Amino acid sequence: MNKPIIAAFSSILIILFVFLFLVLNNPGILMQNKVKSADYDKDNTLEIFSWWTAGGEAEGLSELYRLYSQSNPGVEIINATIVGGAGTNAQAVLNTRMEGNRPPDSFQVHAGPEFIKSWVKQGLLEPVTFLYEENGWMDKFSPDIIERVSYEGEIYAVPLNIHRGNLVWFNSSIFRKYKIPLPETPKEFINTMELLAENGITPLALGDKNIWPAVRLLENILIVNLGGDGYNGLWTGTTRWNSENIESVLREFLEILKYTNSDHSALTWDEAVQYVIDGKSAMISIGDFAEGYFRAEGLTLEEDFGWFPYPGSLGVFSMFSDTFALPKDVEHRENALQWLRLLGSQEGQDAFNPIKGSISPRMDSDIRYYDVYLKSAYKSYSTDRIVGSFVHGAAIDAEWEEQITEITRNLMIDSDTLKALQLLQSAADEHLE
Ligand code: GAL
Repeated sequence: MNKPIIAAFSSILIILFVFLFLVLNNPGILMQNKVKSADYDKDNTLEIFSWWTAGGEAEGLSELYRLYSQSNPGVEIINATIVGGAGTNAQAVLNTRMEGNRPPDSFQVHAGPEFIKSWVKQGLLEPVTFLYEENGWMDKFSPDIIERVSYEGEIYAVPLNIHRGNLVWFNSSIFRKYKIPLPETPKEFINTMELLAENGITPLALGDKNIWPAVRLLENILIVNLGGDGYNGLWTGTTRWNSENIESVLREFLEILKYTNSDHSALTWDEAVQYVIDGKSAMISIGDFAEGYFRAEGLTLEEDFGWFPYPGSLGVFSMFSDTFALPKDVEHRENALQWLRLLGSQEGQDAFNPIKGSISPRMDSDIRYYDVYLKSAYKSYSTDRIVGSFVHGAAIDAEWEEQITEITRNLMIDSDTLKALQLLQSAADEHLE
């Protein structure tokens, strides 16, 4: 071989080696948009870590980036996203990065015990109370939300949205075609699903490749059967898991699963929403981030798709909230503070939430930007009983959440409700000691 060929060959080998090294050290890198590995070394960047990659959530995030770039033109944004709804995969990658002392400049995290236990109590975050004081946010954010991101007198995150989980979304043309009234009770819900099945339509779409969407369904059935107080009691010990009441919840859950698509374990949540759009299924029970997906796919609310509270749960708002936090000693602290200022601002919130399918935790948000579904969510949030969604971090810590998820996964395989009850009870006992 002559010299130029050897040189070219060696360069290719070196490039391949460097590429492999980077991927092995940071598997998430392949999923990061707009990013080149070299960007990490640049001074004026802002690395934002989230799991917003699906329709609606990705568009909402881009809108925030657009606003950020407008007022911070010199800053290059590194969009570090890890695919997997509800943070299924993001959590592990974030853990590794935080442990390795390579925190992103700011990261997405659910408000509530999941956040406080995993990050705040570990002492890994910088309090951002000063941002609330400096920007007059103390009396602008709903006190309930502030409390969910506070610990020992300090606030540790900026809440960006409030989602509602106890909902069902449906394909309007299927409902019109079969003249289906919106079901209001669990019995009417079953009748609706029977009618759809008789007409050869899969009643309920499910995409539980990552399990949590099935647990979401279980959460809704728990809320219906226990009511707000009983459901909250699961997390304080006043409601026992090992009871006949919960056993019938588990049986109802298994019963409803019979109305779902047979390939549910191969689909992600957004692929399941797509089944509803395509008319392969008539409904899906999932949080209102689905609204963002429907809209991102170009569908019109009411004309093409609609919603109703999960039958039997009217009067309850199962809430969760996405917030952004500031790790200690980040590389681009000033840029991160600018990001958090945008997130907490009325402008940022009212630009993001109507796209995302969520409402703003600010009490002065401009309701005109929000569609008829979101207006109903505002109303429900202000008048209904609010409970924290355990699936999305607002009721318990990540470890307990994972235990319930695992028990649900096994229940779906072996249908052994008695075994599940015992395991659910021991998980609760362990955490409520
Ligand atoms: C939730 C999150 C939502 C939405 C959803 C699906 O955990 O709070 O904002 O992104 O996951 O990815």
